[in-house]
This record gives sequence, C-alpha cells and structure tokens, in this order.
Amino acid sequence: MILPVIMAGGSGTRLWPLSRQLFPKQFNNLAGEYTMLQETAMRLSGLDIEKPLTICNEEHRFIVAEQLRDIDRLGQIILEPEGRNTAPAIALAALAAVSRDKDSVLLVLAADHVIKDVQAFHGAVKSAAALALEGDLITFGIVPTEAHTGYGYIRRGQAKADGFKVEQFVEKPNVQTAEEYIKSGEYLWNSGMFMFKAEQYLDELKAHRPDIFQACAEAVQHTSVDLDFVRVDADAFRKCPDESVDYAVMENTGRAMVIPMDAGWSDVGSWSSLWEINEKDDAGNVFHGDVVNLDSHNCLVQGEDRLVATLGLDDIVIVDTKDALLVAAKNRVQEVKDVVAKIKAEG
Ligand code: GDD
Ligand code: MG
Repeated sequence: MILPVIMAGGSGTRLWPLSRQLFPKQFNNLAGEYTMLQETAMRLSGLDIEKPLTICNEEHRFIVAEQLRDIDRLGQIILEPEGRNTAPAIALAALAAVSRDKDSVLLVLAADHVIKDVQAFHGAVKSAAALALEGDLITFGIVPTEAHTGYGYIRRGQAKADGFKVEQFVEKPNVQTAEEYIKSGEYLWNSGMFMFKAEQYLDELKAHRPDIFQACAEAVQHTSVDLDFVRVDADAFRKCPDESVDYAVMENTGRAMVIPMDAGWSDVGSWSSLWEINEKDDAGNVFHGDVVNLDSHNCLVQGEDRLVATLGLDDIVIVDTKDALLVAAKNRVQEVKDVVAKIKAEG
C-alpha cells in the first residue's frame, strides 16, 4: 500500500503576520473550512492508502496531532529538533518506512497546497503509482502560467505510460531563465509533490548527497517512540546539511519522471497567491473579516477582531492581527520574508 508522507515543517514567512514561527500557515484555515494540513490529509480519502506519516518540527507536535485527530487521520508523526529542509525530512520518512516494509511506496505531499479537483489529483496519483513501482521518481507537473521564480521547472522528455521522462529539472531559476522556459512551452512547474519507492529515494540520496544520507541514517539509529511521536537523535540530525529534495535529488537523478496534473493546484506561498485563488467582489477585492470599503480595487484585506476600513486603494494587501499589522503593495509581497528577517534582526 502507498504511504502518504506530509511535510509540515516549513515556516511560511511570506504569509506573515498570519503565519508565525509558533503557528505557520499550514496550520491555519487560510483557504477553506479546514486547515491546510487537514485538507492535505482529507483529500487522500478515496485512495487505497495508509494513514499519513507526518513530519514536522518538535514545537508543533501538539498542533499537528490535534488537527489530524480531529479528522480521524492521525498516524505517526516524526519530529525534527530543527528543520533541515525537505531532503533530510523525506529521508527520515523513507528510513522509517523501509524499516516497516522494505517495498514501501511514498506519496510525498506538502502541507500547504490547494487542490481544487480532487478526482484529477487521484487520477494523477494512480498513474504515478504504476511508474513508482518500476523504480522511477515521480513528480507531478503543472502547466505554468507565469515566469514564477519560486518554483522548480521540468523539461518534458520522452513519453512513458501516462507521464514523461524528465529531461531537465531546474529548481528556482532566475527570472530571465524562467521567461525563456515559459516561452519555449516545453516546461512544467514542479508541484513539489513526489512519489517513489522509499528505497529508491534513499539510493538516489546516497548517490548524490551521501552526507545527507549518512546524517539521517545516524539520526534514526537512536529513535524513541512516545505515543504517536517519533523522535530521532537530535544531535545527529542537527549535523545534517540543510537542503531541499529538489536540489539534492531531483536535479541530479537520471530516473525522474513527470506526470502532468491539471487539478486546480496552487501553492499558497504568498498573499498574492491567496488573493488569486479566492473569489473576488466586482472590484476585484478579497475581504475576510469585518471590512468596509469605498472605492478600492484588487485589494486583499484580512481582518481579525476589529473593523478595517479602506478608501481609494489599489493593489494593496492589509493583514491585521492582534499584535501586528501588514500593509503592503501587492506586487511586492514576495519580499514579506525580508520584512520578517528585518523584524528578527532588530527584535
Ligand atoms: N518536515 C519538514 N522539515 N518540512 C519542511 C521543511 C523541513 O525542514 N522545510 C519545508 N518543509 C515543508 C513545507 O511545510 C512545505 O509543505 C513543503 O515542505 C515544501 O517546502 P517549501 O519551503 O514550501 O518549498 P518551496 O515552495 O520553496 O519549493 C518547493 O515547492 C514548489 C511548489 O510549491 C519545490 O519543490 C519547488 O520545486 C516547487 O515548485
Ligand atoms: Mg511552498
């Protein structure tokens, strides 16, 4: 059976001030009735699949356990003492999976994606499963709409079953390169979801980043299990290099395949992407909370406890929380992470 692995250890700083270190975006219900983590687990129902193995930061263990218990999807939760990005996170999950079943197939998911068409997603997963069993590393490809520099780009090669061989995988290219890729029409975005045999991932990691493999293998040698929580050796894991799966494995492997997926996917990475996926009023505004507006257009306002009034604004993002207020130009919201860095540096 397929084991879903939910990566839930990101900090989501571009969605400050709603996404905080103590409560990152994936634990908020930014895009629906349920939290993004819950939506991620819930959209698996209907697939022949195990309960998810979630991997997150130690400090979020109770939030994760409670949110998954609430929807009856609580499985084991691997706790990282500190985040080392996604390559090590997936390695810990893969090592745990092979120790239970050496033929495990992992469906690796991010906890912060929106997928509107669940049936199309299920179809893509089924297509991917067949290829994963043959030893390929599958990613799900999205038809790109703009030269976004926050995504990985995949050049399609030869067709195989329902997918294509990955001719080239480029993680987060600069804007000129991204524009060329878009113009060529030959590239897909990497959705950041993957499917492969756990053992195959570990072999690829060992080949391309033996240092990461080694650190993770050491970290799982002393594992302690406390109810649903699995803790690895903190000192060993802290020594692991910080790297994403995209740079560590997907850019380097010769066995990558892409399954194109048209499922209304979006990565709710920033306030502008949240504006894009939400329904707008006639003037293009998205308002949450108690908002009174006169003559503003294409704004996103996220209120909390008090009334927010807007007058004559265009393309502005306002996010009000109890202890912090963000007012930003909508075309600059990728830089909110720099604002957060500045607050930290000065704080
Ligand atoms: N457990 C754990 N530990 N999870 C992590 C860690 C970590 O150290 N770092 C990130 N994550 C989780 C995040 O919470 C998120 O769910 C997922 O892993 C992906 O991490 P991001 O930091 O959001 O990656 P990204 O958006 O910059 O890039 C990835 O996703 C894009 C699509 O959204 C890449 O795979 C890109 O190639 C891809 O296009
Ligand atoms: Mg992301």
